[in-house]
Amino acid sequence: MPENMKQAVVYQIYPKSFSSHRQQATGDLLGVVDRLDYLAWLGVDYLWLTPFYCSPQKDNGYDVSDYYRIDPAYGSMADFELLLAEARRRGIGIMLDIVVNHTSTEHAWFRQALKGRDNFYRDFYIWRDQPNNWQSKFGGSAWAFEPESGQYYLHLFDQTQADLNWENPQLRQAVFEMMRFWADKGVAGFRLDVINLISKDPAFSEDDSDGRHFYTDGPRVHEYLQQMHREVFAGRELLTVGEMSSTSLAHCIDYSRPERRELSMTFNFHHLKVDYPQGKKWQLGRFDFVGLKRIMSDWQQGMHAGGGWNALFWCNHDQPRVVSRFGDEGQYRQVSAKMLATALHGLQGTPYLYQGEEIAMANPAFQHIEELRDVESLNAYQQLLASGLDRTQAMAVIRQKSRDNSRTPMQWDSSRFAGFSQTQPWLRLADDAGYINVASALADPDSVLHHYRRLIALRKQYRVLADGDYHCLTPEHPSLWVYTRRSAAEMLLVISHFGAEAQSYRLPEGVIPEGWQAELLLSNYPAPAVGWQWQLRPWHSLLYRLTPP
Ligand code: GLC
Repeated sequence: MPENMKQAVVYQIYPKSFSSHRQQATGDLLGVVDRLDYLAWLGVDYLWLTPFYCSPQKDNGYDVSDYYRIDPAYGSMADFELLLAEARRRGIGIMLDIVVNHTSTEHAWFRQALKGRDNFYRDFYIWRDQPNNWQSKFGGSAWAFEPESGQYYLHLFDQTQADLNWENPQLRQAVFEMMRFWADKGVAGFRLDVINLISKDPAFSEDDSDGRHFYTDGPRVHEYLQQMHREVFAGRELLTVGEMSSTSLAHCIDYSRPERRELSMTFNFHHLKVDYPQGKKWQLGRFDFVGLKRIMSDWQQGMHAGGGWNALFWCNHDQPRVVSRFGDEGQYRQVSAKMLATALHGLQGTPYLYQGEEIAMANPAFQHIEELRDVESLNAYQQLLASGLDRTQAMAVIRQKSRDNSRTPMQWDSSRFAGFSQTQPWLRLADDAGYINVASALADPDSVLHHYRRLIALRKQYRVLADGDYHCLTPEHPSLWVYTRRSAAEMLLVISHFGAEAQSYRLPEGVIPEGWQAELLLSNYPAPAVGWQWQLRPWHSLLYRLTPP
């Protein structure tokens, strides 16, 4: 694992929507090269690029048809090598997205598998004579019938994303060989897509749920990751992060504890389900702020105590924009975005920031289903209609929940297509691109962008951000999240007000040791009066560093 991991910040790029060098409808790798100076200025250490391998794009590249080739829509291998070299020159590592729970049904392995039951590649996938009741995460049964052989294959995602059979040692070798190919090229890390789903319980049992208990953190997943570590990661300085679906704290400690030699860190999603009423994503719901703090606190303390390591994030390409979700996308967009940034970047773990988050991009307020492209959203819309909602009601849910909320083109400047391209982009731009964009944020020293840049710099400056423990002072408060981070020689105090109403707060006695000095490192308002009591303003955020006398 890399030396700098605990003080690093990762920036996530969705290449399709980042920047089009060739001035086309979709972004490309040279578009990323064009923006490297900006990313270096921001201070990020790694870029995680979502998949740009050959793909029929049913799930925007998470349906890989050739792991070794770059989809021509994104450029060439030479473009990728240029990106690696230019990024390295700026001290930035490139992380690849590895999608090995499934391949596209257009992958050569699957095509071979279709040739008959005794084909070598047949057993690279999961076949049954009868389906069970497992459900696809994109809706409907997780099994698709293949008429030629009369069997069903498993697909936990889209029907064109067939699950790989990790029980097969030759499949595992083929995956590791592919990962070594990219590691040998000089990539600095891997993000592993839904990696905790790769080990299915071989009994393929059913329960009254959707089957997830039989493949989430499945029976052999740790063994497979340890093998991946031996075969690919060992002897290399790679940052590895696993995307863990519906996982548990105990498993994430095991995935990321260095002694176990599995991964550097894990993503989990529990904190982003606090606005799912009864656990259901496709329903409108207010977010449970006390629940959010409880989850964040449990993971902060649990990972710290267990020796694991968290990947910290509010946003990614599968999530609505955080300022629309937990902040205020209207009048208080700028202050609430800064508050959210500080609340997250003050925690222990490695922060990930997703393109556009640093300029407070918000959900684009989709009006019509025709504006959307995402397979999951389109399926969900049909299911909402089938469940009895009318079009307006269904669209209200899609507008708040869709993954396309975060996939609109990056807003670089106020030109016609926001500097993303000179052609109409594949997914429509948000209407606010004229004033929410990188160029105007760069010019304003008080912007959200400059705030993020300071947070990233602070992580490198103060060791307590990496090492300090975590203690929440306001677990039940309806709008305040106040926490401390403490190491032997310094301490941080982070105050975040999730709301617009005026609010006063007094620090309880004894939190700050006698005689310690406070320095305000960052706030989204001018510095308040000195003392341990505050009159907080809308979406106020304060980050203090405390040191002994
Ligand atoms: C992950 C990706 C998501 C994709 C899914 C299936 O959750 O982040 O975009 O649809 O895996 O590969």
